[in-house]
Amino acid sequence: MTTKQIIERAERCLMPTYTRIPLVIEKGQGVRVWDSEGKEYLDFISGIGVMEVGHCHPEIVKAIQGQVKELIHCSNLYHIRLQVELAEELCRCSFADRVFFSNSGAEANEAAIKLARKFGSSRGAFEILSMENSFHGRTLATLGITGQTKYQKGFGPFASGVRFVPFNDLSQVEQGFSSKTCAVILEPIQGEGGIKVADKSFLQGLRQLCDQEGILLILDEVQCGLGRTGRLFAYEHYGIEPDILTVAKPLGGGFPMGATLAREEVANSFQPGDHASTFGGNPLACAAALAFLRVLVEERLVEKAEERGGYFRQQLEKIKEEFHLIKEVRGKGLMVGMELYSGAREVVKECRERGLLINCAAGNTLRFLPPLIVQKEDINRALEILAESLRTVANKI
Ligand SMILES: Cc1ncc(COP(=O)(O)O)c(C=O)c1O
Repeated sequence: MTTKQIIERAERCLMPTYTRIPLVIEKGQGVRVWDSEGKEYLDFISGIGVMEVGHCHPEIVKAIQGQVKELIHCSNLYHIRLQVELAEELCRCSFADRVFFSNSGAEANEAAIKLARKFGSSRGAFEILSMENSFHGRTLATLGITGQTKYQKGFGPFASGVRFVPFNDLSQVEQGFSSKTCAVILEPIQGEGGIKVADKSFLQGLRQLCDQEGILLILDEVQCGLGRTGRLFAYEHYGIEPDILTVAKPLGGGFPMGATLAREEVANSFQPGDHASTFGGNPLACAAALAFLRVLVEERLVEKAEERGGYFRQQLEKIKEEFHLIKEVRGKGLMVGMELYSGAREVVKECRERGLLINCAAGNTLRFLPPLIVQKEDINRALEILAESLRTVANKI
C-alpha cells in the first residue's frame, strides 16, 4: 500500500475521531522515527509522552519477546507473578501500599473515582472536586471530571456530583468543598490544558485542606508521572503525598498499561467484585513495565530528565528573546510548553517539514515531550529547527 492509499483507506474505514496528520509512521529507534517514505524525524512528542525510554529500547523488546513465549494472557482469575513484582516495585518507590492495574490513563482514573466514592460512601460523601482546564480521559466518568467543555460537547449529561474550581486557587477549592465531597482530583502539571504547573503553595495548601476535611487527594500523573518532570513522581517536587495516584502513558514502555496506586486504608475500601479489568496487569504488560522501570533506574533517566529539561528550557527562553510571537515557556523536566500569541499550528507544521515532531496543546501552546534518553545534540538540533520554523511563521504573520 502506498502512503496515499493508506491515508485514503483510513479515512473510509476508521471512525473519524482523530485529526490525523498525513504521515504514516513505520519505524522507531531511540529518539527517532521514520515514515513510510523513509523520511527521518526527531520525535519530541514520543507518542504523547509514552516513549520515555525511546522507541524499541532493547530491554523492552527483550522483555516482551521473552514473555510472549511463556504466557501472553491468563486473566485475573489467577495469580500472576509479574503483576505482584510490578505492584511491589511501584509501592516500594512511592507513597502507595496497593495497586490496581488497567490498560490506559482513563481507566486508571475511572478506578480512582470508584475507589474514592467507595471510600466516601460510609459517610455519604460522593462529590468530586476537579480543576478547570483539566484533562482526565475520554470515558464518560473521566470526561465528566474533565474541566474543558470542548471535550464534553455532545456527550452529556454526565454523572452528577462533580464541581469545578479554578486551578491554583486554594480559596475557591475551600469554598467548593461540602460535607458530600469525597475527593479532589488534579494534575500536578496540566498537560492537555497547555503545560500549566501547579504552584507549590497550592498543592501544599490543598493537602492540608484535604487532611482537615477528611477528603481524599487524587493526583493524575498519567502524563507528568514516572520520571518526565525530573522526579519519579511529580508530587515529589511539592513535598506532599497523595492518597490516590494514577499513572499510565510511559509505564509499559509503549505497551498499553495504567495503574491506580493508593494507601492501604483507602485501597481496602475495594472488596472482591468491586472493580475489574480483563486485560489489567496481564503478564505481557507487566513484563514490559518491569523492564521500563529497570531502564529508568539503570540509565538514570529521571536525573537526565531534570538536567536535559533544564538545558532545553533555558535555551527556549533564549529563543523567546528573539521572537515576539512567544508568550511564555513553562514546564518541569522534559514536560515543556511554549505558549505563542498565535500561529502554533503553523509552527508545528513547519517543524514537521524540517524533521521535528511536536504538537499543540490547548490551542496555542507548543508541547515538547521528548524521550528522556534525548541527547544534548538532539536538543540542539530540535532548537535549530524550532527557531527556523518560528522565523518562517513570524515572517508570514
Ligand atoms: C493527565 C491525563 N489523564 C488521563 C489521560 C487519558 O489517558 P488515556 O488516553 O491513556 O486514556 C491523559 C491523556 O492524555 C492525560 O494526559
